Amino acid sequence: MKTFTINLKLAELIDAFSLALDLAEGRQLGHARRTASIALLLAMHYGVKGNELNNIYYTAMLHDIGLYDPLDTITAMDQASVIRKHTIQGAKAVADIPYMEPISPFIKYHHERWDGKGEPEGLKGKLIPLPSRIVHLADSIEIFVNTKGADKYSLQNFIMHEAGRKFDPNLAKIAYAITKYDEFYETMSHPIALLDDLRPQDQIQVDDKGLLAIGHGLANFIDNKSPYTANHSIEVARYTVELGKHLGFKDDRLHKLEVAALLHDVGKLGISNKILHKPGKLTDAEFQVITFHPYYSEMILSQVKGFNEISLWACLHHEKLDGSGYHRQYDASKIPPEARIIAIADVFQAIVSDRPYRAGLPYEKVMTIMQSMAEERHLDYDIFAEFAKIAPRLLEHPETKQQKKIARMND
Ligand SMILES: [Fe+2]
Ligand SMILES: [Fe+2]
Ligand SMILES: [Fe+2]
Repeated sequence: MKTFTINLKLAELIDAFSLALDLAEGRQLGHARRTASIALLLAMHYGVKGNELNNIYYTAMLHDIGLYDPLDTITAMDQASVIRKHTIQGAKAVADIPYMEPISPFIKYHHERWDGKGEPEGLKGKLIPLPSRIVHLADSIEIFVNTKGADKYSLQNFIMHEAGRKFDPNLAKIAYAITKYDEFYETMSHPIALLDDLRPQDQIQVDDKGLLAIGHGLANFIDNKSPYTANHSIEVARYTVELGKHLGFKDDRLHKLEVAALLHDVGKLGISNKILHKPGKLTDAEFQVITFHPYYSEMILSQVKGFNEISLWACLHHEKLDGSGYHRQYDASKIPPEARIIAIADVFQAIVSDRPYRAGLPYEKVMTIMQSMAEERHLDYDIFAEFAKIAPRLLEHPETKQQKKIARMND
């Protein structure tokens, strides 16, 4: 077995994933990227070098990973508790993603204030880790410039006003100096060019094992967005791999297929839980919003070099062979077998498993429904016939049983 399915740079994968977080938060796209560029500029002027720069880059990219709900749904009243909660949840979430564990404490403290009045622990001054202090300042500057549309002078006033209160006074001085120049604001409109220069050069090369481990970490994160999707991506990937193997896929192709299945719904992070959790039927407009999610998946995954096929297979998982699916409305002539496999695994997982609002359908019923979907050319007929041969044993898996038990306990 080859060690590298693709030549993956961890920094680029996390960069792409940060777009999913921007969507989830309801921030302007590129918020995390711009925060990372500001953070790296501050860090370099402060004299930070080597691995600590990497930590700052990853902390900035993932700082709000604990925030699942769009900001516009948060009232002023719950703001304090949201700040507290998302720092603690975020620290936990990154600890579960391979390679990201070291930045867990930095995420936890990215809302601490220099004067000790921050969250979650009220740490003061230099007791707050440097990467957290830097990212806090960078995050605040990005929001000030991009959401408040503030001019240079009010930004500089804000920075100096908060020096010694919210921000480390030494870092604030550096920020004041950097934001004097017009180039700073120009770079903010094109953060990628700056990031290409500044982001970790000693990039971690990820092998297949690492790629799958990160894929699992991110899939877990995607699934945790909502109890409605609990374990969905992980299970879809397991069914996909089993079906792929059964059809004779191996090595590179099988690994890529698994990654595509793990990440197929990454775009769901961009869909509000208000819609995903709506009991009952969706309006046409709400359904339209749902149909954006494979498009978002594509937008995110296609940013990663070497992910061309992965992003294509993932983004076609709601296409139907008769051309009536979404988002590209491809027909059979354009839907590759890999996407057809994921589509079958996706439907199977969705209807066989328990959800908070309904129990999973019995196995025979699931297979009858899917059989008619194959006959109507919504699913691939031949691949479904192969799937039917292995489906019974897929449900015997301990994880599926365990999940069913947990879902029932929560009911
Ligand atoms: Fe935050
Ligand atoms: Fe989907
Ligand atoms: Fe799905």
